[in-house]
Amino acid sequence: MNSLTNFKAKSTPTAQLKSTNYDRAEQQFINLLEMEDLDKKIQAQPAIATDFEMAMEAALKSAYEDAPGDDAAHRFLQRILYRINRLKLFWYDDLRHYTNERSIYLQLVRDQIEEAWQDWEIAQIDVAALQKLDPKQALIDRVAADLDPSLSDDSRYLREQMTEAGYRHLLAIGSFDGLVEGSRLSRILGGAANEVQCTLTKVLLEEYGNGRYTRKHSTFFAQMLNEFGMNTEPEAYFDLVPWEVLACDNHNFLVTERKIYFLRYCGGLTYFEVAGPSWYRNYLAAAQRLQLSAAAMGYWELHIKEDERHGQWMLDDVALPLAEQYPGEAWQLVLGYDQEKLMGDRAGSAVVRSVRQAER
Ligand SMILES: [Fe+2]
Ligand SMILES: [Fe+2]
Repeated sequence: MNSLTNFKAKSTPTAQLKSTNYDRAEQQFINLLEMEDLDKKIQAQPAIATDFEMAMEAALKSAYEDAPGDDAAHRFLQRILYRINRLKLFWYDDLRHYTNERSIYLQLVRDQIEEAWQDWEIAQIDVAALQKLDPKQALIDRVAADLDPSLSDDSRYLREQMTEAGYRHLLAIGSFDGLVEGSRLSRILGGAANEVQCTLTKVLLEEYGNGRYTRKHSTFFAQMLNEFGMNTEPEAYFDLVPWEVLACDNHNFLVTERKIYFLRYCGGLTYFEVAGPSWYRNYLAAAQRLQLSAAAMGYWELHIKEDERHGQWMLDDVALPLAEQYPGEAWQLVLGYDQEKLMGDRAGSAVVRSVRQAER
């Protein structure tokens, strides 16, 4: 697409980019997203994307080239990426919102952000060291360590100090994932049948309440929001979501949409199911201390039970069998696991920071 390939030559000097208005650029991008015949229009009139592209270029530089990276730039890039990725799911809204689902221009934007961002993420992991491990033993050891970790400062804060206002803020951010839980898992289930596929399906079925809406995990999340009269629409609290949380979602989109990352995804989901209960126990302890109703904490209780089982299934019936089947690539299970943990911890800390700020 000429607009994107040419835009480097057209862009203004860095000095001018200092004042990048990310909000305005995001608004321009939203207009592009819903524009009919986007690809043709951009080809005919590249200027309609110039502000956005200049902001993107500035953001890529300040997020990934300058350490540790500018927060506003991280946030802008993750929001743009999310707006493209979310088109992989159906939201029961106006069908015209999906007009650019297969736009080449959007793919180029996605790839450009994703490549720079993923290079930056992977540089934080010692992949060569991972490749030297015995992958099965590495997975077994990690699961044993992550099932019941010692309490961090963040955990203690949630359990002992978070106020009810903080708890509501936590729910608002959590609803972003909680209301569409398991959606991306659905994207990797199709294909050849075997025991691994059946276990992944079993996990999805439980997340989806075995097809009963009242038992679906997202329904339990909505009930928690209802207890406080909060909005139960997915993405209602999008603006509160820290970029570190968006990064987890976007990473998840990447590894579920690309089959070459199947092992990494399964390693990541193993960590997610294994480690989930330790976070949920913090939230539950907070809700109990605040003497909230059962419905205001039901989702956590449910997950402490179910995810312990899911974590065991993921290790025994998905990760270890895959390590057998792909001996030369099994290190990718460990990479997926470690990366999920790294990004998950980073997101968890960002959420606690945001909760503390909301309480002030
Ligand atoms: Fe769940
Ligand atoms: Fe689960």
